[in-house]
This record gives sequence, C-alpha cells and structure tokens, in this order.
Amino acid sequence: MYDFAPDTTLAPDERYRQLADAAHSLTDGEPDAIANMANLSALIWEFVPDLNWAGFYRVVDGELVLGPFVGRPACIRIPLGQGVCGTAAATGTTQRIKDVHAFPGHIACDSASRSELVVPVIRKGEVIAVIDLDSPDLARFAEADAAGIEQLALRIADRI
Ligand code: SME
Repeated sequence: MYDFAPDTTLAPDERYRQLADAAHSLTDGEPDAIANMANLSALIWEFVPDLNWAGFYRVVDGELVLGPFVGRPACIRIPLGQGVCGTAAATGTTQRIKDVHAFPGHIACDSASRSELVVPVIRKGEVIAVIDLDSPDLARFAEADAAGIEQLALRIADRI
C-alpha cells in the first residue's frame, strides 16, 4: 500500500517538496510511462486541494494527446500552440491562468474550470508532455503552485 498523505499544515513549498519526493519514490524502478502518469495524477489529486482535473497530455507526432488523469472526460487531441496546454507545449513555458475565460483560445473540457496551471515536462531539451491542473476557483494557482509543479516535472521527466 502507498501511503503518501499530505500534511495540510505545511507551507505550500514544503508540501510541494513532499509531493516531488513521493512522486519520485512512487515511480522508482517502474519503466511503464502510463502506469507512472496514472499514479502521478492520483498523487497530485491528493496533494493539491481545490482541483477538478489533474493529469497529463503527451506530445505525440506533433500534437498533444490525452494521457492519464483524474477528473471528467477531456478533449483527446490538442494542436501545439492552441489552448493553455498547447501554448505551454509550444513555448516550453509554464502557463498560470487566473481566469480561463480571459485566455484567448482556452479549450473548455469541463465548464466548471475557472483557473488553470499547465507545466511542460522537458526531457533532453524537448517538451515531451504537459502536466495540466484545473480548478473551479478563480485565481486558484499562486507562484508557489507553479514552482511546485515545475519541481515535480523535473523530478519525473525521465519516468514518463
Ligand atoms: N483547458 C485546456 C484543455 C485541457 S482540459 O483543461 C483538461 C486548454 O485550454 O488547453
């Protein structure tokens, strides 16, 4: 049994450090990328409060394709450069969106989503996937959340 219970009394940066450590040990020695992304999505869901979607899109043949996630069913393919995920993948930069309705080209998969954080996963200089978090709360994601998920992306880049 895996028991990585987040300590909700900790400051966000320490909580994200725990998440990255838990992610690293959960995927240790497991070569199957899908199994790892599935477990990582569940782990993010447990560690990060107030989400309605948490998961992966992978870069496959020049577009983003839905990977393992927790949440409602989502759009399967996203062209690079489109939506929040496609922008993160095309630019290789984190997208922290306070209000998705104000983001031109936002792709609504769940109408409940109000804010979004998308972090590229970069391996050997190439974006191989993005980690996508959605929240039903406006301006849910602070800089500490972006830094925490970026830290996670670095730790798991060679495991997905
Ligand atoms: N909102 C994303 C699409 C993916 S869903 O949020 C799961 C976007 O604009 O790229």
